[in-house]
Amino acid sequence: MKEALLILLAYCIGSIPTAVWVSRHYFGIDIRDYGSGNAGATNTFRVLGSRWGTFVMVIDVLKGLAAVKLSLLLPQYFDSEIAFTNLQLGLGMAAVLGHIFPIWADFKGGKGVATLFGLVIGISPWTALCCSGVFLLVLYLTRFVSLSSILASIAFPIFILVIFNVDNHAYRVFAIVVALLVILTHQKNISRLLRGSEGKVPILKYRDR
Ligand code: G3P
Repeated sequence: MKEALLILLAYCIGSIPTAVWVSRHYFGIDIRDYGSGNAGATNTFRVLGSRWGTFVMVIDVLKGLAAVKLSLLLPQYFDSEIAFTNLQLGLGMAAVLGHIFPIWADFKGGKGVATLFGLVIGISPWTALCCSGVFLLVLYLTRFVSLSSILASIAFPIFILVIFNVDNHAYRVFAIVVALLVILTHQKNISRLLRGSEGKVPILKYRDR
């Protein structure tokens, strides 16, 4: 019962539509009507500039981390490492789904990457570091944030299954599901990348359009 309530709370935390609220409150626009139409940090960088982009990114990452940390409210899980990790995965995933389908913003949110990153920081900081290395390397080489997100997400199960050889079946399945989820949320980006029309590192502000 307590688990279900915490999962619901994690979903509500993930549902905080940072980019939507910032764009509405400070700029009188809905970020989803501009740029890529995504309610995430990248589009906030693109539309509202780096200061707000950074703000949205930090809050969206913290949502995933906070959801994972809700697990500390259930000390009965502390004795079993696998059960504790699985609880954290459930809480973190609820936040990621909240970010993608936010109850506070018509269920139209972001693509889940920043919140997912917060989840991974909370559960496996070394894996988070390795995935961010992949992200930064691809970004440096290509300047495509979407491609960087996709390849970092594909690297995630590779780190979990192959490099760190994590001995938790649920975590292994979770890592694969998450990579597929990120590919799914980036379908439009993938089409644009294939067509050659995906924008590189965000440069436009909505005022310039
Ligand atoms: O995390 C989202 C990013 O990978 C792509 O965002 O706005 O370019 O679709 P966007």
